[in-house]
Amino acid sequence: MSSVKNFKLHIDGKWVESSSGETLPSDNPAHPKQILGIFQKGNQEDVNKAVEAAERAFDEWRQTPAPKRSLILLKAAELLRENKEALAREMTMEMGKVLAESRGDVQEAIDITEYMAGEGRRLFGNTTPSELRKKFAMTIRLPIGVCGLITPWNFPMAIPAWKIMTALICGNTVVFKPSSDTPLCATRLVETLEKARLPKGVLNMVTGPGDAAGMTLVRHDKVRAVSFTGHKDTGAYILKEAGLKRVGLEMGGKNGIIIMDDANLNLALDGVIWGGFGTTGQRCTAASRVIVHEKVKEKFTTILVNRIKKLKLGDGLEPTTDVGPLINKSAQEKSAKYVEIGKNEGAKLLTGGRIPKMDGFFFEPTLFTDCAVDMRIAQEEIFGPVVALISVKDFDEAIDVINSVEYGLSSAIYTNDVSRAFEAITRIEAGLTYINSSTIGSEVHLPFGGIKHTGIGAREGGIEGINEFSETKTVYIDYSGKLQKAQIDLA
Ligand code: UN1
Repeated sequence: MSSVKNFKLHIDGKWVESSSGETLPSDNPAHPKQILGIFQKGNQEDVNKAVEAAERAFDEWRQTPAPKRSLILLKAAELLRENKEALAREMTMEMGKVLAESRGDVQEAIDITEYMAGEGRRLFGNTTPSELRKKFAMTIRLPIGVCGLITPWNFPMAIPAWKIMTALICGNTVVFKPSSDTPLCATRLVETLEKARLPKGVLNMVTGPGDAAGMTLVRHDKVRAVSFTGHKDTGAYILKEAGLKRVGLEMGGKNGIIIMDDANLNLALDGVIWGGFGTTGQRCTAASRVIVHEKVKEKFTTILVNRIKKLKLGDGLEPTTDVGPLINKSAQEKSAKYVEIGKNEGAKLLTGGRIPKMDGFFFEPTLFTDCAVDMRIAQEEIFGPVVALISVKDFDEAIDVINSVEYGLSSAIYTNDVSRAFEAITRIEAGLTYINSSTIGSEVHLPFGGIKHTGIGAREGGIEGINEFSETKTVYIDYSGKLQKAQIDLA
């Protein structure tokens, strides 16, 4: 244990210990005995200090011209790029996903950093004619203030970067509370911004439990906006507790892939494997439901089962590994619990379903068929490698089934019929729809987010992301030299 490094909180430009004096280890889910670092258990007092630091830093940062803020982001992107391989390897060790996916995660962080750096030279408002003569009308963007950012472990660098880089370019200051499962990746991101010379207090990080650290941030009077990605129940609680501040929530999914009878089945198979079992099913965008036309169901299912059986479980650093471990023991138990639920509900287990005899928190890639639309395994987010297959008789039924869940994040349809594809785009209730591609693969310059119980309107990435982290001010400039009355002076 003595060789394990101790990591600190980042408050007001300094790395400090928590006032709680308590720590929490971060382990490797593929080899749980391997401890990657000891992290601080931040508490209310630490969060208060971090918010105060962020508040003190706000005025200077908001007055820093946005193109100058961009330069810091560009430097951070360069550093992330230089260290990409090392960061990706560490990410695989901390959260388990296969190395290629960790590289993708770091790349997504680089992409959003570069994109938001570019936004620093735009941050456009609008100009529009006034209804009166010699009066000018425009909108400008202003920062909101101190933002509290609470992030999950499944994209331990990309999701924090979506939020942090967007908040920063808009001129906000930040208190960042990362998941306790991935504090090392979070620390690396903060270190990178520090090396890029972000002024002290602009970005603060408090690691620690959700109740003591996260909820203090949510309830804090001086925090003007909260952005959270994570479980639906936590999101609902945050919304209740936040009081009068902006709240952005991204709360998961039960995403479906529709496979029509005219689909290219090989393409659809690749999409189901990638969507269902990539990141071991631990994506908000994971394809946990496959809605297949009954005419192709048998053929499709037979090949799918064979493909799933060939997936190799293992340490994500091994080049032969297809599927890494789940994040922790309770995630492993959750997948196992849902397999029991599925069996009891009468779904047919075609493959997988067990905890293998391996050291880490692994779970066999699992496929259920003959699932009824209202079964819990077809309705609830499992966040593991468990896929429910539902067969349908036609397109309308497929649309009903895909829309039958409380969530609305991602969706996909495989078909070669262009009319059906367009109809699906408008009829599927989700924030994202992919045509002939899996439910995964969002890009940072487009909005990301969902409807129904996935979200309450916020989008991340693109201009929509900028909207989340800026206030709009409307400005009127009357240069007529006399009192002009809108709505009243009609001539
Ligand atoms: C998430 O699972 O919360 O499209 C985010 C994707 C990734 C982002 C997923 N770019 O799957």
